[in-house]
Amino acid sequence: MVQIEQIFPSLTWRIRHEAMYADQPFDIVKLEDDFDGIHFGLYADHKLTGVVSLFSHGDVYQFRKLAILPNAQKLGYGSQLIEYILDFCKIQKATKLWCNARVNAKEFYFKFGFHETNKIFQKDGNDFVVMERGF
Ligand SMILES: CC(C)(COP(=O)(O)OP(=O)(O)OC[C@H]1O[C@@H](n2cnc3c(N)ncnc32)[C@H](O)[C@@H]1OP(=O)(O)O)[C@@H](O)C(=O)NCCC(=O)NCCS
Repeated sequence: MVQIEQIFPSLTWRIRHEAMYADQPFDIVKLEDDFDGIHFGLYADHKLTGVVSLFSHGDVYQFRKLAILPNAQKLGYGSQLIEYILDFCKIQKATKLWCNARVNAKEFYFKFGFHETNKIFQKDGNDFVVMERGF
């Protein structure tokens, strides 16, 4: 059974850490503006298994730190969280949703109507590309 609901910012940290930064100090998963964001958690069989965080500037939204626990990846949970925030953005009358995508996750985002921009950069040894879509 899968449920998605809005969660407190601090609940995202353990999932982000295990999914994205397991070999790095815990505190690097905390974002300066976490308390200004809207955070969603996916519960699989009542266990918090995936998270994603949304930040808005006017009607432009950014999502950050989409993370699914390693042993629960490739089961469709990431897709369900993306579909959920797409619906949320539509309801909020967003005009654009964007993210800094890890280049190795780019194909995943194509499935949801995101396209690459020409903004690319490196951070902490990972390659990123800005991807976005309208509504
Ligand atoms: C990337 C991530 C969020 C995807 O979530 P997930 O639950 O594993 O993905 P899903 O099971 O919903 O995958 C849906 C589809 O995308 C594909 N997919 C998933 N991850 C992919 C990737 N990294 N690259 C290419 N395709 C990918 C799946 O194969 C599947 O394809 P199909 O529908 O044709 O079978 C998750 O694997 C994760 O947390 N990874 C580590 C952290 C990370 O990289 N986050 C993204 C930062 S930009």
